[in-house]
Amino acid sequence: MQDLFVKQLEALRAASLDRHLREISSSQAPEIEIEGRRLLNFSSNDYLGLANDSRLRNAAIDAINEFGVGAGASRLISGTQSPHLRLESALAKWKGTDAALYFSSGYAAALGTIPALVTKDDVVLLDKLCHASLIDAAKLSGAILRIFPHNNLKKLESHLEWTGREHAGKRVLIVTESIFSMDGDRAPVREIVELKKRFDALLMLDEAHAVGVIGPHGRGLAVAEKLSDDVDVQMGTLSKALGASGGYICASQNLIEWLINRARSFIYSTAPPPAIAAAALAAVNFLSSTEGEKRRLQLWERIRLLRKLLLSLNVGRGDTSSERPMPDAERLTLNENSGSAIFPLIVGDEQAALDLAAALKREGFLVPAIRYPTVARGSARLRITVTSSHEENQIRTLCEAIKKMNNRAK
Ligand SMILES: Cc1ncc(COP(=O)(O)O)c(C=O)c1O
Repeated sequence: MQDLFVKQLEALRAASLDRHLREISSSQAPEIEIEGRRLLNFSSNDYLGLANDSRLRNAAIDAINEFGVGAGASRLISGTQSPHLRLESALAKWKGTDAALYFSSGYAAALGTIPALVTKDDVVLLDKLCHASLIDAAKLSGAILRIFPHNNLKKLESHLEWTGREHAGKRVLIVTESIFSMDGDRAPVREIVELKKRFDALLMLDEAHAVGVIGPHGRGLAVAEKLSDDVDVQMGTLSKALGASGGYICASQNLIEWLINRARSFIYSTAPPPAIAAAALAAVNFLSSTEGEKRRLQLWERIRLLRKLLLSLNVGRGDTSSERPMPDAERLTLNENSGSAIFPLIVGDEQAALDLAAALKREGFLVPAIRYPTVARGSARLRITVTSSHEENQIRTLCEAIKKMNNRAK
């Protein structure tokens, strides 16, 4: 048994696919402490710098003082405390849906929801670059699973036609993300909504990297595109731009009631700590305020600066699914409608990506190498994320360091 794992670990190391935890001995911020060194952090999804914001901290502390730490039971037994319900009604209002349901994580939200919506004989159509939580949930549901190439509307349409022919009368669920987590690009939601309507399918949109970032008051892509009513299941997480923890589903009252009755990750798990729900509520309230919107616009200033500097280095964003090293900068567009806070620099080779990440670390930057199985084999990358809390000069020094490395590689 022991030997088995030794061999498996050796195989991982030989393929440059082994992973290790790194201890961060400070709070989340643009500058963090690792192994006694201060590093500039370009790896966090804390896009609005809320993870250590005093509003969230104080909301959590107040809730701990009032409700204690643990929820004590699952939501359906006696774990539903006032902060959970307050958060759910604020989420529904913020997203413009009838109702919302709070899960212990985004992963749990996906895992509970998809198997509650579809079962054996139904069909799930999933974008190839969807997050592991959505893939795992689709597999768990037992439904027939068809993957369409990333953002490929033609293929999605032909899958829908096939479903109509071969599985007439069965439920069809299209699953995609508004911002893809490892590529930073967007789904063509408007066109997908047209298809889902034409073929009478359901649409689930994971807004994990869009909420807090896109749309008025960070309400996400569905709201930004005025498609909120057409997206049947709006999923998101409170653990990225919202700086707290937990996942949510926003949807119709009936769908939420169905999830309360059928989503196993919701039913068979202790309710999330009420203090975390209170902190997430503080984040939603902040985003809904003028100050929150100002913070979001500051994030966009940082996104534009980083994009401009990366473009000038000719190492910008591009078609990451094609596995080309260092994509053409011309593919970048400089307006808010096509961007996000995620900038992948595709390297290709796993070891080369690790070497680049290590070289950046020596220069004082934390930019992780993302490898298989998070992304496809041979499409390893550096994933740079920028936040509203980064100062302009921090972004500039990162780009200087990348430039140096890029010149060395030429
Ligand atoms: C696209 C996407 N969906 C879902 C999740 C899961 O969210 P959580 O971290 O809250 O479990 C993540 C992040 O981990 C993600 O990137």
